[in-house]
Amino acid sequence: MVLTLFGPPGSGKGTQAEFLVQHFGIPQVSTGDLLRREVEADTELGRQARIYMERGDLVPDQITLELFRRRLQEPDSAPGVLLDGFPRTVGQAQALDHLLAEMGKRMDRVIRILVPEEVLVERISGRLTCPVCGRTYHPRLKPPRLEGRCDYDGAALLQREDDSPTTAHRRIKVYQQRTLPVLEHYRSQGVVSEVDGTGTVEQVRERVIAAAEGRELDAADASGSQA
Ligand code: AP5
Ligand code: MG
Repeated sequence: MVLTLFGPPGSGKGTQAEFLVQHFGIPQVSTGDLLRREVEADTELGRQARIYMERGDLVPDQITLELFRRRLQEPDSAPGVLLDGFPRTVGQAQALDHLLAEMGKRMDRVIRILVPEEVLVERISGRLTCPVCGRTYHPRLKPPRLEGRCDYDGAALLQREDDSPTTAHRRIKVYQQRTLPVLEHYRSQGVVSEVDGTGTVEQVRERVIAAAEGRELDAADASGSQA
């Protein structure tokens, strides 16, 4: 099974992935997390990627695809993967089609999560991330049980370097310009579902799981200011 969580920064891809990996028994592959690991380890790829990530721009396809290919070769990916934040350009989507075909797989479902822009900025600017497990929190919207500490491993929560309001706006713009066209690529394959990403984490989870299983609970209203 190959699923993609598709949506702008702050739409809840990482939050929903946490439940989906348990539900479907496949690993989450987030290119954002893979890239942040390279940056932390100060590798050559990480040093190159950091410049783009700090600005809120996309990292060049060559770097992202190299990391993604390596991850897909790990044995836990064999039953399938839950992609988070990948593919993000039409070039990445085409490369992914080839990689999956080589493995005898195809994209099963692309779940687009729709959230109005003003909600995205509020979520991103308040987000706290666990540096150990990558889980995310928000002081008002999804508070940890103990202030400033991860519920799962007790690590001190941090704010991501690219989570300032200015960079958040830039990332949303980049998503609209460079990532939204990827939807057309998958619409032509008939695998796109759209879900309303507003409401509680649990409400969104129900819609996302229904979409992944091919049951449409409630089609999102794609009009207006949805990003
Ligand atoms: P990446 O790490 O993928 O970030 P992103 O796509 O910008 O998405 P986010 O992680 O910001 O948001 P999310 O949708 O996961 O939201 P979350 O669940 O955390 O990428 C970072 C950078 O890496 C990019 O800018 C780029 O430079 C580079 N990059 C990555 N992949 C790349 C690629 N393929 N190609 C090129 N470059 C790439 O939720 C956000 C907050 O909201 C949290 O605080 C959460 O608690 C809260 N929240 C979530 N859902 C709800 C809800 N229903 N109600 C209330 N609060 C909620
Ligand atoms: Mg994320």
